[in-house]
Amino acid sequence: MSKNFDVVVIGGGPGGYIAAIRAAQLGFSTACIDEWKNAKNGPAPGGTCTNVGCIPSKALLQSSENFEHAGHAFADHGIKVDGLSIDIPKMLARKDTVVKQNNDGILYLFKKNKVTFFHGRGSFAKAADGGAGYEIKVAGAAEETITGKHIILATGSNPRQLPNLPFDEKLILSNTGALAIDAVPKKLGVIGAGVIGLEMGSVWRRVGAEVTVLEALPAFLGAVDEQIAKEAQKLFVKQGLAIHLGVKIGAITAGKKDVTVEYTDDKGNAQKAVFDKLIVSIGRVPNTTGLNHDAVGLKLDERGFIAVDHDCKTNLPNVWAVGDVVRGPMLAHKAEEEGVAVAERIAGQHGHVNFNTIPWVIYTSPEIAWVGKTEQQLKAEGVAYKAGTFPFMANGRARALGDTSGMVKFLADAKTDEILGVHIVGPMASELISEAVVAMEFRASAEDIARICHAHPSLSEATKEAALAVDKRSLNF
Ligand code: FAD
Ligand code: NAI
Repeated sequence: MSKNFDVVVIGGGPGGYIAAIRAAQLGFSTACIDEWKNAKNGPAPGGTCTNVGCIPSKALLQSSENFEHAGHAFADHGIKVDGLSIDIPKMLARKDTVVKQNNDGILYLFKKNKVTFFHGRGSFAKAADGGAGYEIKVAGAAEETITGKHIILATGSNPRQLPNLPFDEKLILSNTGALAIDAVPKKLGVIGAGVIGLEMGSVWRRVGAEVTVLEALPAFLGAVDEQIAKEAQKLFVKQGLAIHLGVKIGAITAGKKDVTVEYTDDKGNAQKAVFDKLIVSIGRVPNTTGLNHDAVGLKLDERGFIAVDHDCKTNLPNVWAVGDVVRGPMLAHKAEEEGVAVAERIAGQHGHVNFNTIPWVIYTSPEIAWVGKTEQQLKAEGVAYKAGTFPFMANGRARALGDTSGMVKFLADAKTDEILGVHIVGPMASELISEAVVAMEFRASAEDIARICHAHPSLSEATKEAALAVDKRSLNF
C-alpha cells in the first residue's frame, strides 16, 4: 500500500470524512486519519457528531419524545397506554446501535470511494522534502509515517469545562456523559441554556427528571430571533423545564452521590441547589491537541482556533482546515460544506460556502430553526424590513398532528422584498427550514414563496402563509 497521498485528512468527523470522500471523487489519492475508538478499541469514524453529538442526541430525543407522547399525547387520539414505563438501558443500547450504523456507514463509504483509512492520531512530523508535501505521523496500533501534498485539518472541538471543575462523566457531565446516564436522575442540573443544555435537558425531563437550567446571560437564546426565543421559552417552562437566567455560578462541590451548585440569581440573591447529576454545557473549544502544529509553524488565532482565511487556507502552503477547529458556527453541515469546498479548491475548482444561508436547528419539542438575520440584527444594522408571522394554531395539518405550538416568521427587505431571515418554532421546524434556505440561496423574495403552490394539508403551508403575511395577505389567519 502506498504511503504517499495527494490529500491527507486529519480527523474523521463530518468535516474530515466528507472532505476525504470529495477529494477521492475528484481523483486524488486520499487518506483519512481518525483516532476515535469504540468500546472495543476499534475505529469509530464520524467524530463528535456521530459518536457523542448530533446522532446519539437525536436518537435519545426521539426515544424520549415517543415516551412523552405515549404518556400524554396518545390519550387525545383515544389510544390508551396502561402501565407505561421506560427501560433506560434499552434506550441507550438503541442509541449505541444507531451510532454504530453510522460508524460502519462511513467505513463503507471510505471503501467505496477508495479513501485509505488510518486508525490513530495524526500529527505533523515535518514538511517533507522533494515536493512530496508534509510528513504525517500516524500513531495507532502501530506507528507509521505517510506523506500528503495537501493536508486538511478537521480535528473538531471539545467541551469547555468550568474552571477547576473537570468532567468526571459520573456527576459532572459533558455531552459524552449526558448521553449515557444509565438511570433517570431525580434532580438534574444543567449549566448553560444553549443548544446542548436544552436538547439534553429535554431528553431527561421527558423521561422523568426534574431539570433545572442555570444560564449566565439575562436573555434566553440570545442568538435566536427574540420573538421566537420568547415563544420557545414559554413553551419549555410550560413543559416543566426550570430555566433561571442571569445567574452567576459560584462554588460547585461534588460529593459522593450528588453535586451542590451555589449561584447568585438575577436579583442578586445567593442560592444553593443540590443535583444528582450536573451537565455543564457552556460551549466548546477547538481541538488541536496532539497535532504538533508548532513543529511546522501552523498559526492558531487568539482563541485557539486554527487561523484560516475565507477559503479555509491556513498560513502554511497546501494546509487547509475546516469545521469546528476553525471560526464560524460549530455545526456538522457547516463542517461538511467547508470540507467539500476545500477538496474542490484543491482540484482548482471554485468551492463555495455561503455563510449567510447556514441553517440552525435546535431539536427540542417544538423544534427551533432559523436561517439568515434575526429581527434584532436587522434593527441594529438599520435595515428597513417587513415581517410576517403565521401561527401553527391556524394550520390544519398541525391541528391533525395535535401539535399547534409556535409559528413561522418571515423577514423581508422593505424595498426589494428579498427574504432576509426565516425563523420557526414549531413542529418539524428542522425540515421546514430547508425551503427557506433554498429560497434565500436563490435570493428569492417573500412574494416568490407566497406564489408557490404548497401541498394541503401540510405544515409547509404555514411557511407560505408567513410569506403572505409579509404583505398582510395571509389567507387562513
Ligand atoms: P468532529 O466531529 O469533532 O471530528 C473531529 C474528529 O477528529 C474526531 O473524531 C477526533 O477524534 C479526530 N481527531 C482530532 N484530532 C486528531 C488527530 N490529531 N488525529 C486523528 N484524529 C483526530 N451539529 C449539527 O449540525 N447538528 C446537530 O444536531 C448537532 N448536535 C450536536 C449535539 C451535541 C451533544 C454536540 C456536542 C454537538 C452537536 N453538533 C451538532 C455539533 C457537531 O457535532 C459539530 O459541529 C461537528 O461534529 C464538527 O465536525 P468536525 O468534523 O469539525 O469535528
Ligand atoms: P452554546 O454556545 O450553544 O450554549 C452555551 C450557553 O452557556 C450559552 O447560553 C452561554 O451564555 C452559557 N454559559 C457560558 N458560560 C456560562 C457560565 N459560566 N454559567 C452559566 N452559563 C454559561 O454551547 P453548547 O450548548 O455547549 O453547545 C456547543 C455547540 O455545539 C453549540 O454552540 C452548537 O454549535 C453545537 N451543537 C449544535 C446542536 C444542533 O445543531 N442542534 C446541538 C448541540 C450542540
